[in-house]
Amino acid sequence: MHEFKYKGSELRCENVKVADIAKKVGTPFYLYSRKTLVDHYQKLKEAFKEVDPVICFSMKSNSNLSVCKALLNEGAGFDIVSGGELYKAMKIGADPQKIVYASVGKKREEIEEAIKRKILLFNVESVPELVHINSIASRMNRKVDVAIRVNPNIRPKTHRYITTGKKENKFGLDLATTEEIFDNSNRYPNLNIKGLHVHIGSQITEAAPYIKALKKIKRFIDSSRINVETLNIGGGLGIVYSKERPQTAKQFAASVVPILKKMDVKVILEPGRFIAGNSGILVMSVVYVKETEAKKFVIVDAGLNDLIRPALYGAHHEIKPVMKAESANKEKVDIVGPICETGDFFAKDRRMPELQNGDLLAIMSAGAYGFSMVSNYNARPKPCEVMVSGNEFFVVREREAYKDLIKGESIPGALK
Ligand SMILES: Cc1ncc(COP(=O)(O)O)c(C=O)c1O
Repeated sequence: MHEFKYKGSELRCENVKVADIAKKVGTPFYLYSRKTLVDHYQKLKEAFKEVDPVICFSMKSNSNLSVCKALLNEGAGFDIVSGGELYKAMKIGADPQKIVYASVGKKREEIEEAIKRKILLFNVESVPELVHINSIASRMNRKVDVAIRVNPNIRPKTHRYITTGKKENKFGLDLATTEEIFDNSNRYPNLNIKGLHVHIGSQITEAAPYIKALKKIKRFIDSSRINVETLNIGGGLGIVYSKERPQTAKQFAASVVPILKKMDVKVILEPGRFIAGNSGILVMSVVYVKETEAKKFVIVDAGLNDLIRPALYGAHHEIKPVMKAESANKEKVDIVGPICETGDFFAKDRRMPELQNGDLLAIMSAGAYGFSMVSNYNARPKPCEVMVSGNEFFVVREREAYKDLIKGESIPGALK
């Protein structure tokens, strides 16, 4: 469910007309519904209340400060993957004791900062990383809490680029190595190795792979007799992009909570897409309609630099007119951006109402891995981000200007 609905022929976000926002800020822009964000967070919290988990919103899905603050206000923690995300989490006053840090490539300065901030857990992804964190902690005279990210070798049904728990993926450690680490924890005197972390992938619409992974982990804990205080079951919950029928938070919890309850662990969740995905749209304008021998192209003012999911994963996003057309005529078109790449498309052979220059379109379900993957490719300024709360809207990140495109660049004397 989300708060982007038509009232009459006009698309609204909560109580605000999307077209009114476009008039004010121009296009393209990301638009977030605070109510949808909060509802999704609360749904998960309610579904899992029996195990009272720490819910760490995965900042990689959307690290806009206002999006994160709206969730922080509900009690959310954060799943981070970089020093930059830690910086942003600290900027909004996040509780470090609700921050978990995964990434296969944490660097010294990032680790030092996270230790200084006293985050809840490092999710460690390799033995060299474990050695590195231990030596940094020793130099800082600190004892640091870590969990081992386990790679359970499970294949969920999702795009291969967002499968993370197969043995050929770069993430996590196999069970034998994990057991060896726990058994030899005295090699790491500055670490408390206290938990396990498992994240098998993203946009997973059914519980079966989670159940499989958790059962495997339970068997592992039972047979190895290691002492596990925290279990982070990752994120990955799928959402509706078009015709998917993903499990609800309630259904998901009903499948996994019984297993978790048998484990006597503090549960951590780190969803991104489930909370942010349907909470945001990308609004854009039609620039030209171009007909060729083979196709009709609707050329819009957003490109793959603004939303890369279709180009990167062949992802499907619903695209809706901001003002519903009076005529019911539909035609097959490709909706494409202005970027010099054939991969710069948002839809192919999509049946759309007749469109013309200036019409506004909304790409739905763009709140996760949308702005967070934006780039300046083709020297295009990044779009602005807007949040609606009830009857009001706020620009929560300004549109970049041309001067932002050259920030930090200089021309050496030798070239002058
Ligand atoms: C370690 C980890 N946790 C959580 C997430 C969030 O996944 P999702 O947005 O699918 O919930 C990801 C996404 O890649 C991840 O790598």
